[in-house]
Amino acid sequence: MQIEDLKKQTAHYAIEHFIKNGMIIGLGTGSTTAYVIREIAERIKDGRLKNIIGIPTSKDSEDLAKKSNIPLGTLYTYPSIDVTIDGADEVDPNLDLIKGLGGALLREKLVAEASKQEIIVIDDRKRVKQLGEKAPLPVEIFTKTRC
Ligand code: A5P
Repeated sequence: MQIEDLKKQTAHYAIEHFIKNGMIIGLGTGSTTAYVIREIAERIKDGRLKNIIGIPTSKDSEDLAKKSNIPLGTLYTYPSIDVTIDGADEVDPNLDLIKGLGGALLREKLVAEASKQEIIVIDDRKRVKQLGEKAPLPVEIFTKTRC
């Protein structure tokens, strides 16, 4: 099976098993969670999912969710998130992750921290014996300027 089909299948499985009407959902970043966002939008459009609010983990996921007509909120308006579905760059046997190669590390972590449940969707290429085998460790520097 092609990688893109695997990503799509993983995304749909996660939605089927973890997303319910009325949820506040963290919308992850990356090509795998793009399938999640598009499928959630599809299910909102055809009525299978109702009263959903999305909390994006990046500008990219925000733009895709807006384009897909998913109602959006922020961590200020929804400080508690029911489920976040996000991707990863590497996953080891202890389920430790490397994330952030999509350039959304800090925002992803803030959304993950606010989530009651975090679902990580990956294809087999991301599984490693030890973190660092394939992916560099992203570092994000966040500066706060006093106004
Ligand atoms: C975003 O910062 C990353 O953590 C992504 O979730 C990760 O890079 C996985 O992206 P793909 O699903 O595109 O492989």
